[in-house]
Amino acid sequence: MARTKITVVGAGNVGATCAQRLAERDYADVAIVDVVEGLAAGKGLDLLESGPVESYDTHVTGSTDYGIMDGSDIVVVTAGAARKPGMSRDDLLGINQKIVGSIALEIKNRAPDSFVIVVTNPLDAMAYLVKHVTGFPANRVVGMAGLLDNARYRSFIAEKLGVSVKDVASTLLGGHGDTMVPLPRLTTVGGVPITELLPADEIEALVDRTRKGGGEIVALLGTGSAFYAPSAAAAEMVDAIALDKKRVVPCAAYLNGEYGHKDIYLGVPIILGGDGVERILECKLTDDEKAMLQKSAADVHSLIEKMAL
Ligand code: NAI
Ligand code: 2OP
Repeated sequence: MARTKITVVGAGNVGATCAQRLAERDYADVAIVDVVEGLAAGKGLDLLESGPVESYDTHVTGSTDYGIMDGSDIVVVTAGAARKPGMSRDDLLGINQKIVGSIALEIKNRAPDSFVIVVTNPLDAMAYLVKHVTGFPANRVVGMAGLLDNARYRSFIAEKLGVSVKDVASTLLGGHGDTMVPLPRLTTVGGVPITELLPADEIEALVDRTRKGGGEIVALLGTGSAFYAPSAAAAEMVDAIALDKKRVVPCAAYLNGEYGHKDIYLGVPIILGGDGVERILECKLTDDEKAMLQKSAADVHSLIEKMAL
């Protein structure tokens, strides 16, 4: 039986780190594609040569030729421009629409049965674009953002309370932007609601830091944006699909009426398994949460309209 084949498109910070994480897991072969001559080939070869030291047999290849994507089971799209200080994710729409649109066509032709995990920003609009161009069903195109935003939120809470990150459970809703909707009401620490452990103003400060978490790292790095946590989140999504883990995680999923929204990608809790987005989990929202989600959805809708598909 052949190993699962995963293609990572984009050999930059997120793509190469994701490829490394996947290679080290040793259950699938990994192909990397990038437009820059030698970049994917060089990083792929370097990763292949790490196998004997790290004790993995993962076959890693890299190329500028999309042919190496043929027959992939899972494709992770990380190609495109990353933001620089002062830029929002939405400022990347024009440039990344062209890049991701052309990659989606390659996926449609070369990996017609694949599951696609979209990472490129602005995330929710790019996931919508990939679904539109490939014509894949909604369960096979999913965006990575909620897992990352949630990881940031859980890290800040764990640090604040001096507890293990493993014991902080939470979810969040909305687009991957400053209008995302963290849900303190559904955040627990070892089963205890966070609202009983921290005063409202301290929780609000953690929520605010989460919303601006991507920008905090852009400002520190000076060039480029976060990639360790994003690549970890993308690799965890690959695991959930490839190993049929039925993980309950917040991801950008195509909504067809869930949470009162239609024909849009938005972050929601989903069951992610061997059939991709297997179910969207709906929960009742307060009026405030509904209003925040509405605002976030309006931002994503305006980006989708700008793409004029
Ligand atoms: P990067 O600049 O390090 O890498 C991007 C790579 O894409 C470059 O190597 C570039 O040559 C390549 N590329 C450009 N056009 C291509 C094409 N047509 N085919 C193949 N490769 C192509 O950027 P980084 O840091 O890896 O970020 C990638 C994207 O992911 C950005 O749009 C960034 O905003 C986004 N991102 C999204 C996150 C999320 O939570 N959804 C988190 C982190 C990054
Ligand atoms: C982040 O949140 C840039 O979207 C990316 O780090």
